[in-house]
Amino acid sequence: MNVRHEIGIALLGMGVVGGGVAETLLKKPAVIAQRAGSSLIIRGALVRDLKKARAVQSPPFPVTTDAQHLLTLPEVQVVVEVMGGEQPAFSYIERALRAGKHVVTANKEVLAKHGPQLWDLAHQKGVQLRFEASVGGGIPIIAPLQRDLLANDISSVRAIINGTTNFILTRMARDGLDFGVALKQAQDLGYAEADPTNDVEGIDAAYKLAVLASLAFHTRVTAADVKHEGITKLRAKDFQYARELGYAIKLLAIASHTDGGVTVRVHPALVPQETLLAKVDGAFNAVEVKGDLTGTVTFHGLGAGPYPTASAVIADIINVARAINGADRLPPPPPPARAEGAPRLRSMEELNTSYYIRLNVHDRPGVLARIATVLGSNQISIASVIQKDADEAQNSAELVITTHPAQEARMQRALLEVAALDVVREINTSIRVEPV
Ligand SMILES: NC(=O)c1ccc[n+]([C@@H]2O[C@H](COP(=O)([O-])OP(=O)(O)OC[C@H]3O[C@@H](n4cnc5c(N)ncnc54)[C@H](OP(=O)(O)O)[C@@H]3O)[C@@H](O)[C@H]2O)c1
Repeated sequence: MNVRHEIGIALLGMGVVGGGVAETLLKKPAVIAQRAGSSLIIRGALVRDLKKARAVQSPPFPVTTDAQHLLTLPEVQVVVEVMGGEQPAFSYIERALRAGKHVVTANKEVLAKHGPQLWDLAHQKGVQLRFEASVGGGIPIIAPLQRDLLANDISSVRAIINGTTNFILTRMARDGLDFGVALKQAQDLGYAEADPTNDVEGIDAAYKLAVLASLAFHTRVTAADVKHEGITKLRAKDFQYARELGYAIKLLAIASHTDGGVTVRVHPALVPQETLLAKVDGAFNAVEVKGDLTGTVTFHGLGAGPYPTASAVIADIINVARAINGADRLPPPPPPARAEGAPRLRSMEELNTSYYIRLNVHDRPGVLARIATVLGSNQISIASVIQKDADEAQNSAELVITTHPAQEARMQRALLEVAALDVVREINTSIRVEPV
């Protein structure tokens, strides 16, 4: 075994995650060296603004804005990309792999958009590309999918993988807040960014789901394959009505494998209150995996923050170091290219799911019959109807309808037809219902 005394790291980014990584590597070098088989030495860190205050003050390594210099240092074996965003992160990762350096990244956006290309490049160059921190922060989920669950045929992955939206939804459910107010609270507390689009529209969760689905189903799923809907249309009363029906509302990222096809989607969903997923609150994340051998296993924990995320990044670096030192020779296998026999990606329209529909109607006899006729003509049967607040002055009433499972395409068509009925003022919300 050819053990290196030191392994050099280039840290691309010294923000929340990079700061946590640097601080931890400097705080417990002996323990980490023992586990890695080599001392892990940061040879330099890349930032945008040299004047910014950092978690690590007076670091014992150069901090630079010169990416080219850092990426070509011969004493760097592992490039750790914790900058975020698609570019220049993608180019830097590609450059590092081409130069024969191992890469550890926390970047779900780059992986969801360019993962297949980078996996191939790493394979071709005989180097490792590891990304445990890209989904679920400190929750180990990538390595279990790449290694511990390999004997299973996985039928579904259902996940709460965006802490910002889960924080907002928890506030809406517990305190009866409307979306805008809960979002403002999340921004004031630093859970949501000034521009929250990526989180509240389900884009961030879609990136992460693309990564999870690629590993779970041994195929290649990219961001463009994932259909996503956000949480902006939900209102406080939806949480109240859902609770009365026995459900919580969560933004779920779901990848399921049925009838030889894989569906990947992110949307708000009614989740039965008795399930573990319904109990995941605040900024916590959870990933539930159903395997034919394991049954259901659920991973739960902190999906963000400097130290939980540093835990995942440093574990990846340690594993790369062990591979360099010959202790663990093989990297985990990347998802194979989409080949014959790989599950096909199914469109959302083929999905079969139940629905919760809240709508505002004219308060007069025969309204429900008209709606039921439209649903029935689209082969959708009603499971329950509750009439909520009637507004006599407006002559309107609120109906909450739940349906039995029906094909998504039919449901979307029926919703358009119901909205066009003269007895219907507005369809306020329609939310899919997840089974236990
Ligand atoms: N935050 C979390 O808890 C968390 C959890 C899981 C995964 N992640 C992922 O980890 C990555 C980093 O997130 P973060 O929260 O640490 O971000 P962050 O706090 O914004 O830090 C980004 C760092 O990268 C540097 N940087 C960004 N663009 C650069 C450029 N073009 N050239 C040079 N330096 C650049 C920034 O420099 P300056 O400091 O000079 O601006 C900063 O040090 C992202 O991919 C994110 O999705 C984050």
